[in-house]
Amino acid sequence: MVTTLRSPNLLVDPPADTGVSGDELKALLGDRRIIFASNRGPVQYALGGRHELTPKRGQGALVTSLTSLLRYARVTWVASCMSAGDREAARRQKCAAQASLLEESLRLRMVQVPARAYKRHYQIFANPILWFIHHSLAGQLLTKPASQVKEAWRWGYMPVNRAMAAAILDELAHPDTVPWVFIHDYHLYLTGHYVRQRAPLALLLHFVHIPWPAPGEGLLRLGPLWREVLHGLLSNDIIGFQIANHARNFLLDCRLSLPGVQVDPSNGVVYYRGRAVRVRVYPISVDVQALREDASSLPVLTYRRRLESLCAEKTMVLVERVDPSKNTLESLMAFRQLLESNPGLAGRVTLLAFLVPSRTAIPEYRRYGQRLMACVKSINERFGTDGYQPIHVFYENNYYQALAGMGLYDVLLVNPVADGMNLVAKEGPIVNQRDGVLVLSEGAGAHAQLSAGSLSVRVGDVDGVVRAMYQALCLPQEERRRRASLLRNTIEKEDLTQWLFRQIKDITLLDAERRPVGQEAMTNC
Ligand code: F6P
Repeated sequence: MVTTLRSPNLLVDPPADTGVSGDELKALLGDRRIIFASNRGPVQYALGGRHELTPKRGQGALVTSLTSLLRYARVTWVASCMSAGDREAARRQKCAAQASLLEESLRLRMVQVPARAYKRHYQIFANPILWFIHHSLAGQLLTKPASQVKEAWRWGYMPVNRAMAAAILDELAHPDTVPWVFIHDYHLYLTGHYVRQRAPLALLLHFVHIPWPAPGEGLLRLGPLWREVLHGLLSNDIIGFQIANHARNFLLDCRLSLPGVQVDPSNGVVYYRGRAVRVRVYPISVDVQALREDASSLPVLTYRRRLESLCAEKTMVLVERVDPSKNTLESLMAFRQLLESNPGLAGRVTLLAFLVPSRTAIPEYRRYGQRLMACVKSINERFGTDGYQPIHVFYENNYYQALAGMGLYDVLLVNPVADGMNLVAKEGPIVNQRDGVLVLSEGAGAHAQLSAGSLSVRVGDVDGVVRAMYQALCLPQEERRRRASLLRNTIEKEDLTQWLFRQIKDITLLDAERRPVGQEAMTNC
């Protein structure tokens, strides 16, 4: 049966609603736990030569965002074993208890499948296949034969999703756990479906962190498997996207690709197999307070002093994972063109590029990294002099160093082909101390919120990037200050907490709608 639906104002971007407050959330949950499920977990383990395990904080925007929400809610976090260290940790965990309590608010449940299946899942199907489809790169970069795609789906993607669902179902049986499950991202499109089969009353929200491709693109690339993706996602109660544009693409894609579906785009609802699935917009953000504290910490100040000695009169900064979707090669080519066409700038502008190694076991990523380094080398050879190196590359995952770099920019270049949000575009303006200018691609989700304070660039328009860089370098101080303060205000208003609080509010309302009058809230399935 289909329940009454409220209008989500899908056309408003970002939503005006602030959700529940931190105190409301604490009061609502008390000691009970909610479940997060994501491929990468909050902790990764390295296995040493003597079989000792060293835990390390999981990297990436998703983990950072979810981790900072642990102060509001007690969470059981279900995550994949991604490495040999993780697998060993899970093995030891099984001997001790099903999930380990890392701290008061966090229980970690690590899910293991055979290494070969996980490789097919992560290194083939999720990345690069799904990732490239979602980031408009499939036409250019996807070269997998159909047999390999199918094999990776069947013997990688499906088993991992099934194993994640089994762990979630197990955790749902805990008496201290509320049946609210927050599933994250493209690695887990089928998880909701497998959970739903055995827990029909659980409330499932799947948040898609990355852009939804143009309607029809997925079907074109994956055929019937794309229908399985949509079918899996539509087993959830709510599907969340970063910005309205991604949500609209999803709604239209359902209409185009899935027989038997009814779509109400203005209210953000998909009617499918007797269920109404809400489609909502929850723009992710940064934890402004925590970020400011980190930016004034000792390690950041130490890195800052070191980096200052590398800066010329003007400093440009890039912070990105080495990933074709980040479009770093085009950014470097634009920098080259900037120096070429403005000879007076060589010697006066430095580019600090903080490039984070990513998915290095995947050949497409390794090749991209090699092309970047070759490009940097040729620019440095062409324009470098005894006292001047145009580009300094920091190829490592060093959060504090990158924060220090973001404090120093006159121009921050965020130029992805496509990006769910891009948190660098939000971190930069918060920690920068020079009223630096943000040059921002229209392909980044952040553009929907930050376009007024930044200089926009079109995807694929290298000349436009060069012009924007030049304009950013030349903007009068007054205009820089105005834009920087506009960006800061916008980001401060839309803090990370609202991202979760809006989701919790929608789940709470749904829970209340579903409950027969007089029945206690949040009973397990
Ligand atoms: O949303 C995409 C995302 O999951 C980000 O949260 C994260 O920064 C990035 O991809 C990292 O990916 P991986 O887990 O493959 O390193």
